[in-house]
Amino acid sequence: MQKQQPDSDNSVHEKRLAIFASGSGTNAEAIMTYFANHPSVSVAALLSNNPNAYALQRAQKFNVPTFVFNRHQFKESHEVLSWLIEKKITHLVLAGFMWLVPDYLVNAYAGRIINIHPALLPRYGGKGMYGMHVHEAVKAAGEKETGITIHLVNERYDEGKILLQARVKLTGTETADEIAAKVHELEYRHYPDVIEKWVRNS
Ligand code: GAR
Repeated sequence: MQKQQPDSDNSVHEKRLAIFASGSGTNAEAIMTYFANHPSVSVAALLSNNPNAYALQRAQKFNVPTFVFNRHQFKESHEVLSWLIEKKITHLVLAGFMWLVPDYLVNAYAGRIINIHPALLPRYGGKGMYGMHVHEAVKAAGEKETGITIHLVNERYDEGKILLQARVKLTGTETADEIAAKVHELEYRHYPDVIEKWVRNS
């Protein structure tokens, strides 16, 4: 059987992103907005492990095709990869996606999967450290700053090459929700821009 491989030919002009999101999808929306009229980059799919993810509705608003998958389809059957190849996806963008990416997908899209983490890695990273859990831990530790990390994805949680970190000061009196809001603001400001630069060179 021939090995399934996405198109990695750099002469193909258009970069076609697939966003993976498990929840609300405010970052997904910021990315879809940013690339809506872009000459060479488009958001061509949004995938989710969660059929109730609000991110799916955001995608529909942008006429972006969606695919909901279960653990078996993602981890074992490679059905997700077949779908990505059918849609001619060149790059994967994780935006609030909570599952570990399996080895076969990391290998198929080597260097072409990016993630955003809502803290300054390597602190507050790893299994179980996602979404509000991160902001609650930052608050409990009384940190005087937090931030975001945008990094490439490998087989381990939060360990790929870092492309950008951005920081925001904390007074120490913020609630976890207020910390989340400050971090989200940084995410919307930087993630689309970093994605644009990264796809240009990968
Ligand atoms: C974002 O803050 C993102 O950094 C975080 O989940 C949130 C999703 O928000 N991702 C992780 O924690 C991954 N480890 P959104 O659904 O509104 O974009």
